[in-house]
Amino acid sequence: MTRAAGRLRVGALVSGRGSNLQALLDASARADYPAEIVVVISDRERAAALDRARTAGVEALFVNPKDFADREAFDLALVRELTARRVGLVCCAGFMRILSPAFTRAFAGRAMNIHPSLLPAFPGLHAQRQALDYGAKVAGATVHFLEDGAVDTGSIILQSSVPVHPDDTEDTLSARILIEEHKLYPEAVRLFAEGRLSVEGRRVFVRGRE
Ligand code: GRF
Repeated sequence: MTRAAGRLRVGALVSGRGSNLQALLDASARADYPAEIVVVISDRERAAALDRARTAGVEALFVNPKDFADREAFDLALVRELTARRVGLVCCAGFMRILSPAFTRAFAGRAMNIHPSLLPAFPGLHAQRQALDYGAKVAGATVHFLEDGAVDTGSIILQSSVPVHPDDTEDTLSARILIEEHKLYPEAVRLFAEGRLSVEGRRVFVRGRE
């Protein structure tokens, strides 16, 4: 695979299975994609996402939270690793830790997350189960910038909706949403890499689209 110069250098933070990471790795394998994943960092040693990175020939790093006195010290270690690799964008892809201001300030406007609901509905864990329990008729996925404060807040970059079927279980709804996630995340990264996102107040505008 040739890696064209001048592509946006992206670092991914992961904790688990890494299907969204895979979508980003697959996108960066395309020569005309304007971004490339240069490092994948996990807070869990056995995360399948690390294997996906290695298979794709991307540096895979385990940073053990237990090696640090507190959350902030761990987050600052992440900042150091990412900065050392000249990362211009951070993508949280199933990263199961809340990042402190020490991190979000270092990467303000340059860190994204994907969440399996139409935010601001159903933030936090088990978003798909929350949507089912609430009786929502429409669910979906959101890519948003990270910001200080509560979980799953931050300016919304892209969203995609899916219907909720009457016979849905958490698994069937999650699978339907995941298909959207895998399209949405590479698209959001592409728009960022192409310099087509601008933030005004809470709103993100996409040049050439809105
Ligand atoms: C995804 O549903 C993502 O939206 C959420 O955690 C899940 C991670 O899945 N933040 P994967 O590790 O990308 O497969």
